[in-house]
Order: sequence, then C-alpha cells, then structure tokens
Amino acid sequence: MENNRFYITTPIYYPSSRFHIGQAYCTVATDAMARYKRLTGCEVMFLTGTDEHGQKIEDKAREAGITPQQFVDNIVIAPGGVLDLWKLMDISYDRFIRTTDGYHVSAIQKIFKKMYENGDIYKGSYKGKYCTPCESFWTESQLKDGKCPDCGRPVQDAEEEAYFFRLSKYADRVQDLLENTDFLEPRSRVHEMVNNFIKPGLEDLCVSRTSFTWGVPIDFDPKHVAYVWMDALFNYMTALGYMNDSYSDVDKFWPADVHFVGKEIVRFHAIVWPAMLMSLGLPLPKKVYGHGWLNFNGDKMSKSKGNVVDPYVLADRYGVDALRFFLLRTFPFGTDGNFTNELLIQTINTDLANDLGNLVSRTTAMVEKYFTGRLPQARQDAELDKELIALASGLRGRYEAQMEKYQFQNGLEEIFKVVQRANKYIDENAPWALAKDMEANGSRLAAVLYNLLETVRICTVLLTPFMPGSCEKIFAQTGAGPEGRSWDSAAQWGVLPGEVQVQKGENLFPRIDAAKELAELERIMDEARRAAQPALEIEPQTEEKVDFDTFCKSDFRAVKVKDCQPVKKSDKLLRFTLDDGTGTDRQILSGIAKWYKPEQLIGKTLVAIVNLPPRKMMGQESQGMLISAVHTERGEECLNLLMVDDKIPAGAKLC
Ligand code: ME8
Repeated sequence: MENNRFYITTPIYYPSSRFHIGQAYCTVATDAMARYKRLTGCEVMFLTGTDEHGQKIEDKAREAGITPQQFVDNIVIAPGGVLDLWKLMDISYDRFIRTTDGYHVSAIQKIFKKMYENGDIYKGSYKGKYCTPCESFWTESQLKDGKCPDCGRPVQDAEEEAYFFRLSKYADRVQDLLENTDFLEPRSRVHEMVNNFIKPGLEDLCVSRTSFTWGVPIDFDPKHVAYVWMDALFNYMTALGYMNDSYSDVDKFWPADVHFVGKEIVRFHAIVWPAMLMSLGLPLPKKVYGHGWLNFNGDKMSKSKGNVVDPYVLADRYGVDALRFFLLRTFPFGTDGNFTNELLIQTINTDLANDLGNLVSRTTAMVEKYFTGRLPQARQDAELDKELIALASGLRGRYEAQMEKYQFQNGLEEIFKVVQRANKYIDENAPWALAKDMEANGSRLAAVLYNLLETVRICTVLLTPFMPGSCEKIFAQTGAGPEGRSWDSAAQWGVLPGEVQVQKGENLFPRIDAAKELAELERIMDEARRAAQPALEIEPQTEEKVDFDTFCKSDFRAVKVKDCQPVKKSDKLLRFTLDDGTGTDRQILSGIAKWYKPEQLIGKTLVAIVNLPPRKMMGQESQGMLISAVHTERGEECLNLLMVDDKIPAGAKLC
C-alpha cells in the first residue's frame, strides 16, 4: 500500500566541525516526524547522513595535517562524533549515508554521465575573477572593493573549463511547480524563490570544479570533480539504491514524502533539485519544507562567539528528552527562533516539571496512597467527567491535524492543554477530601484517579515521538500495557483495565533552580568562549627603535621583597617594601593583586626600574616599577613577575 509508506530526510550535514544545538534542530524534528509516522502505522524510511566532499573539507584537512578522509572520519565516526551525537539524541534514522561511501561515489559518476549524454550537462567555460595567490575564482559580487575577499589582493579576469547543467531550460517548469502546487512550504518561501531567483533569470549552473580534488571525479574527464551540491542532492536517491546495487528501495520509497531543510538551502532543494530530477525523467519529491534558524540570544549560533552550548552538555544536564522537547515545543518549525538559556529552563520547569511531571507523580502517588497501588473497579459516571473525557478522547484528531502540517509546536500545545486540564481536574475533585470517607467516596475516588490515568495514557502515546525514553517510563509508572500505547488506543477512552496497577517511580522531570542553573550555564559558556580563543597570544614586538644611549638610561636593579601588603580600597594594587641595596627602603606599588597573594612574594628577588619619576597611586607614592612578563592565554591576560636567582644581591645593576 503506497499510502502506508513514508520517506523523510534531513539535509546531509557538512562535517567541518563538531555540531552545535542549532544543527541538531532539524534532525530532532525529522526524528519526531518519523516516530509519529511509525506510530500511526506507516512503514518509514528516515534518511540522514553527511556531505563530506568539497574545498572547505580539503582546506581544513590540510591545515590539520591529515587527509580529507581522516578529517571527516574524525568528525563523523570517531567517538563523540556525528554518529554518537545522533545516538545521544535518540535519533531513530533507518539509513545513514556518507557521500564518500563507494556506492554513492560511483552512482554520482553514472548520474553525471547520463545527464551529459542527454545533453543537459555540457562543457563550457567558467568566467570569473581569479586570485592567483589564493588560486580562487570569485564572481564580481563576491569581491570586496574589487579585490579578493580572502587576501585583499587584485584579481584578474580568467576563464576555466567547466561543466554546466542547463538549469535555465527548467525555469518555467520549476516556477510552475513552486507557484501552482504545494511542493514548497511554508508558502512564504515560494515568493522568495520565485522573485529572487527565478524571475531575475535562472542561469545554467556550474557543476564541476578543477581547483581542488576532494570530490567525486568525473570519470570521463577526471581533472574535474562534481560540484558538491550535485553530489549532495542525489544522496536522497542513491541511499535508496538509485544507480547502485547496495540498496533496492527506489520503487518502494521514491518519491520522498518530505525533505526537511534549513531556510538557506531551500534554493538548492526547491529549484536545482527538481530541475535535475526533471532532466532524468524522475518523479519529484512530494514536498520540501524549509524550517527556520535557531539563533542564540538574538545572535547567529557560532562556536567562536562562545554562544553555543554543546548538545552533549545540555543533554547531560537536563536529559535528552527535555532538550528534544524544548526544541520542538518552543519554536514554530517554519520560522526563526531565539534560543536562550532562560527559555530552556523555563520550558522545562513549566511544561515538564510543573505540568506533566506533577500530573504523573500526583496521580501515581494518590493511587499508591489510597489504594496501595492498584485501583479497584469503580463505577464511572461519564456525566460528571464529560469535559475531561471529551477533551482527552478528541486529542488525537487535533494533534494529528497539526503533525500532518509539521506544526510540532501546535501539536504539543494541544497535548499540554489536556495536561493542564487534568491538573485542574485534580484540584476540582480534591481526591484528598474524598479519601477522608472511603466508605462513602471510595468508588468516586477510584473513578477520578482512573480518569487521570487514562488522560495521562492518551497524552503519553502522543508525546512518544518527542520524548521516547520518558514516555516509556510514564507508561511503566501508570500501568499502561502494549494495548494502551498504540495509535488506535490514543483515540479511545477506557483502554486501561479497571484494576490498573501503578508503580510510582523516579521523578521524571526534576524542577531546576533557575538562578543557580543560569549562573552555571554562563560559566560553562564562558569556558567554551575561552576554549575557542587562541591558546597563546603574545604581543607583537615594537617596530619603533630606541637608541642605545636612551635605553642605557633606564636603571634596572635586583630588589628583595621585605614586605608586601594589599592597598586598602583597591582590588588591584599591592604595596611592596623593597631592599634596593641603598640601605633605605624603597616603596613600589604594583597592580598585580589579581595574580599574586602578598605572602607569596615576601623574600623573593625581583626586578625593578628605579629611576622613573615617583608617582602617586591611591594616595601613596610609588618609586619605580616592577618588571613582569605578560601574555594572553585563551583570552585571559596572564602576568608573571620577573624573579631572579636569590644569589643576586639586592641592588645589583641589570644591564
Ligand atoms: O547545508 N538553526 O550542510 P550544513 C537551525 N551539506 N538550523 C541550522 C542551524 C541553526 N542555527 N545551523 C545549521 C548543508 N542549520 C549541506 C546540505 S543536503 C543535500 C546538503 C541547518 O551542515 C542548516 O539550515 O551547512 C541545514 O539545513 C543543516 O543544518 C545542515 O547544514
């Protein structure tokens, strides 16, 4: 049954550095969708992978002194890499493709040849501006003040032999596809594609490169490698077995039901990709969905800004499910979102700890307390509980309508309306008051608790795609067996046996102390910011020369520290009493309290310049300056006083 299959993909990521939480967003969304479809009974193919070719990878590998293959292996398959990250995030992909996989490489060669033979790929020349020292081609618009944007040197007109894909030939058909079908969503992205890219005139696309070698070689003209996007886009089909024998799922799963992609790569998926498929006479994917970007505190996420909290760190602190939930509950999938630590903690505390966690723990605690864990059969009075039952029984339909539109946030909102209603139902029915007279109210009390367990069960079935691990635990605590965990059962009321057995367990979503946690996250991010800064920075040497006689006027002496005290009301200054060999103590003030405790310095032999004019600091006189070595480490200023051998007598001249 064709209808019962669902093929969904994420973009294949560039493994050029470790991933941040923004990069996990799309994969988490795809996973929730894949799990939802499996829950509804579909046979799902969920594909993800890595896009491993291209100049950027080649350059980074060269910088690291390893081969490009070693470089990508380090990021994809080594411990802590992409595969481990997806395991941590509980990503249930069915297939993982790497564009360096042999079957993919040979399939791309065949595809390139086929399009060359059908005339849609032709040999031409690539005209542009060339920077000889950088060996880079630039377009006019990429130049900075008419010069190379990388090195700032002048560029020359140049021409390079290259292959082109006749993208222009498909402009009308692609425009029609975008404007007259629901191929691309959200709709707002259609106008952007048509107005910014198609209407101004689609040019043929250069699909080969000769300036680097880390790519799929064109077998009939091996000095060319395939353009990364051509190599990458076809992953969606080669992973099913198109033009290769490694898999045989093309008939089963192509065309894809949906490609989830970030907004900046919609252009490739909504214009280039359908055109290439048209060229090969292949069916088009049913939908491309362009999601928004996650910023961090209003800024683009980037490791160098230190504004990215590592998904490993977040998952470790709050649990993978809370993190997955936060990403999909907080931000509408089609638009940009602003990730903040405050929002993360607030969402966990409000939705998970207060609403859901409380509902589960209060309900199971009461079944244990009043009925030692097993409910008795109770007389249900549907009339009394009509509102809650209707709301919970109709939830699946409302949720499904949102999930089918990829509106995860709204789907979750529907669930949480029911969770909140159930918490209110506890307060309205005050089970603790009913429990005061078990003889009179025992049956009603059991009915109230049963209704709560049923509501929790239905909500949990529908939450499973978002928080698979936690939902398992909730099912176990609330006594839902396999028959109560299915998609069908989520639209039915009264599935739990009347004498349901509960097992109150661990608190699934502990409340977070927001102020303490925010401070801790700040500290972690600060550390990350520092780690992203250069390990060691040394101030460049002064170009300006000083003549020898002037230099010789500076009088440097060995001095011994007789006493050292902090200066009152200053957190920077230390006051030194020094033996400078003259028989009279010398006082020097030095702003080094950040690096030294006074007692560490008493008795040490230091170096001072002694013929500077005296100056007043915090009302006290300083007669000279102590010499120290300064450098910057991971963005932090470091200072070390110059200490010399204690054998050197106080007052010895340094020259
Ligand atoms: O584009 N918020 O790979 P990629 C949300 N190899 N999404 C983000 C994000 C953020 N802060 N940062 C990145 C590529 N992404 C190609 C794809 S597919 C045939 C080839 C998303 O590693 C981004 O929008 O640069 C994109 O969808 C995905 O991460 C991979 O980006």
